[in-house]
Amino acid sequence: MNNRALLIYAPEDIEKNKWFADRLVELASDHGIRMKMMTSRELKDRLTSAQAVPGNGLLSAAVINFLDCISFVINRSRDEELSLFFEKHGIPSYNNSETVRLGNDKLLEHGFFRKLGLPVMETACGDALEEEIPFGPPFIVKHRRGHGGSQVFKAGSYAEALELMGPSKDKWIIQKMCDEPGCDLRLYMLGGRVIAGVLRRSEEDFRSNFSLGGKAELISPDPGICGQAEKIAESLGADYIGIDLIRHGGSFVFNEIEDAVGARMLYEVTDLDVAGMFMKHIYEKTFQN
Ligand SMILES: Nc1ncnc2c1ncn2[C@@H]1O[C@H](COP(=O)(O)OP(=O)(O)O)[C@@H](O)[C@H]1O
Ligand SMILES: [Mg+2]
Repeated sequence: MNNRALLIYAPEDIEKNKWFADRLVELASDHGIRMKMMTSRELKDRLTSAQAVPGNGLLSAAVINFLDCISFVINRSRDEELSLFFEKHGIPSYNNSETVRLGNDKLLEHGFFRKLGLPVMETACGDALEEEIPFGPPFIVKHRRGHGGSQVFKAGSYAEALELMGPSKDKWIIQKMCDEPGCDLRLYMLGGRVIAGVLRRSEEDFRSNFSLGGKAELISPDPGICGQAEKIAESLGADYIGIDLIRHGGSFVFNEIEDAVGARMLYEVTDLDVAGMFMKHIYEKTFQN
């Protein structure tokens, strides 16, 4: 058994995820695995410099040696190219590249939910924004690759929404505002199963993100919703994700998939050791299949 692994973070996420990352490294070590934490930038630099075989596009001996020792990667960097690279060389990525690709693009998520026949908010994007959109204000304007609520805005008119998006409109989506703003349901999914449901509420903001001050409460989600969420995780082959729903028309609608889902809120409201559960899942899936 190769006893090395990589844990990859975007450089800007390392600091705030340090506790969880250190815990994963420690747990890997309990399983006899030397897991090294790297930023996506360090990893790309290393692969690019070592791969520099003039002209022929083959992997250099240095990269082959590097890959030979690695049994899996945990990719928390939101960069699907890295997951794809490792998968192409037979090394599993947690989450897999499809989950990383989809779970970091709100437009693709929306299309995926619709394809599965799940309820969603009305949404417009890209070219459609040149025309009259088929629903009225207030609008919720979101960057396709945003997270943590930092690139989610409310607009009172279409003109205001267009202004918020700036020149690259295809990087944004516009959504109808749900009729119960300020709350959402986060389902934590591990190995295709719901392990916890947390209701988040904000008194001050239409955004209920925990990182923006939303209050969290552990709940037992409806089995019907859990079944739908399991369908999503199963279709993607996702390992550890969050699935978020918002309230509209008296029921829940699917809002987003969180690929690099955090664990802070879960540690706060449950006794679950999600890092331990995640590492056990990875170990069993990688070595005991
Ligand atoms: N269509 C909507 N109507 C009302 N509130 C919304 C809508 N979409 C998102 N929100 C609120 O904004 C928060 C952040 O939006 P979200 O799509 O989850 O982006 P992020 O990935 O940045 O968390 C959500 O948790 C929810 O509370
Ligand atoms: Mg969110």
